[in-house]
Amino acid sequence: MAGEALTELAVRRGFFFGANGAYGGTAGFYTFGPQGAALKRNLEEAWRDRFTRQEGNREIEAPTVMPEAVFEASGHLDGFDDMLVACPECGASHRADHLVEDATDIEDAEAMGAEAVGTLIADHDITCPACGTPLAGEPVEDFNLMFTTDIGPGDSQPGYLRPETAQGIFVEFPRLKEYARGTLPFGITQIGPAYRNEISPRGGLLRLREFTQAELEQFIDPETDEPPLERVENVAVRLYPADEQAADDGTYHETTIGEAVTDGVIGSPWVGYYLGVAQEWYERVGVDPDRFRFRQHLAGERAHYAADCWDAESEVDGDWIEIAGFAYRGDYDLSKHDEYGDDAFTVFKRYDEPKTVERATVDPDMSVLGPEFGGDAAAVADALEALAGRDPGAFDGETVSVEIGDEETGDPRTVAVDADVANFSVEEVTESGEHITPHVVEPSFGVGRTVQTLLAHAYREDEVDGEARTYLSLDPAVAPQDAAVFPLVTNDERLTELADEVADDLRAAGLAVAYDDSGSIGRRYRRQDEVGTPFCVTVDRDGIEGDGPDTVTLRERDSAAQVRIPVAELADELTALREGEPFASVADRYDAVDTDVETAGN
Ligand code: GLY
Repeated sequence: MAGEALTELAVRRGFFFGANGAYGGTAGFYTFGPQGAALKRNLEEAWRDRFTRQEGNREIEAPTVMPEAVFEASGHLDGFDDMLVACPECGASHRADHLVEDATDIEDAEAMGAEAVGTLIADHDITCPACGTPLAGEPVEDFNLMFTTDIGPGDSQPGYLRPETAQGIFVEFPRLKEYARGTLPFGITQIGPAYRNEISPRGGLLRLREFTQAELEQFIDPETDEPPLERVENVAVRLYPADEQAADDGTYHETTIGEAVTDGVIGSPWVGYYLGVAQEWYERVGVDPDRFRFRQHLAGERAHYAADCWDAESEVDGDWIEIAGFAYRGDYDLSKHDEYGDDAFTVFKRYDEPKTVERATVDPDMSVLGPEFGGDAAAVADALEALAGRDPGAFDGETVSVEIGDEETGDPRTVAVDADVANFSVEEVTESGEHITPHVVEPSFGVGRTVQTLLAHAYREDEVDGEARTYLSLDPAVAPQDAAVFPLVTNDERLTELADEVADDLRAAGLAVAYDDSGSIGRRYRRQDEVGTPFCVTVDRDGIEGDGPDTVTLRERDSAAQVRIPVAELADELTALREGEPFASVADRYDAVDTDVETAGN
């Protein structure tokens, strides 16, 4: 019920609504209205502050369209698929794995593969949700989720809208490492749109075709780099590890980050560190910790690049929804781009002391290889050099065999070369370091889903002064407006002038302020309560009469409590409230206003 009421409120009060309504709407695309866009921006700013600035990381902005080669390398071209089954009667497309999950107790049908899902559709007589036609026997196909486009006219090259902001960070690694002076660890963040051509987008902000990600790619040396775990070791978390999900009587681990890392429940200390940072951040922006958990991915559920992954999940309308993923991507991405791209996706790791090492080399005699192998001679020389590095013992005999691709057919063939011709030798060299491929730990947040969570967790219904009220108990750090200013009545020029001045002064101080002079004061409070404005400022006659400085009333949304406060102190107090000072401590400094119109209810 709260879900329907919230969706209605979201549309009516300008949080979000389905896009392109005048043209019939486009499933999977939403527009954030003025309130929603402000909430989303504030949330992004809070994320930027915590995951970029406070961590000493750097933020970039990469293009959203990328060439095909990037996604060949990243594995998205081959492996970024969902299972599609189409209805033979009405043509509607469905996520085949979701149909199976809805009809059975299976929780992760995707991990079972397309063939098994096709069999389950037949075994359970699953029908098309749109028209009821049986889907048994219909092909279950892999459908790539990337949107395609053409880059340029004429002989254009294929392009793709990025399915994750992360790739824009990985492909720029060769430059980004220079900005970090080639030193690990360092973190790069990006906030921006990503695109997935979902087979069946869901309502609200949960599964969209265009959505905003806030991602951090933390580049580390897995051998030596440690996170500052002590900062979050006492943070309490609710974990749902993979083995508990598999067990019949599986339970949550109510634990701390420090314990979970020590016990090995969280395998990577870096993942543990960011789970701790995230737990604190989610609570700070208003996620209800009682409706929040970290769930580890089951083996079959992990993305192609992830060695381990924990999702942050929030409870919304009785369902657990993924709002962030914390993946250990290892060296998967940088190794792939190193292999496919033209630049080096490694960093040079300097040893504490230079090391003297033996290095096997060859110096093939090309005056022999040339006549013997013709156009393949260079390939033979390269193969000998690679073999020397890999297996020096192969040069012990009189001949040495290497495999090359045939110049004409490309097929592999083995050729034998006299060891004398290879000129094999072992030299002692002094090395000051080595090139290593960093590993990546990736906290990846869905911004729209977090917005949806904040609204769901902030939604309240109560009664004030005998009247039903709906309000959003949004944290002042993210609420769309910091305050609203009202003149108590509109037929008193002195009051309206002062209210205008107060609003201007607060805006000049950097606060987002609404001004409302329409309708009764009670209705104006209700309107602001409903969009989550944490504080309302009312300019009244009592505040301008007498010899003292002008004062106004300041009302807190959830309690409806009011204090009288000098106008000159308002901007500083509201700024402190936005930054986290509790209203009670501000209220202690001022006189309470005894109002019989506004009394708190829960
Ligand atoms: N970068 C992780 C994801 O898009 O899911």
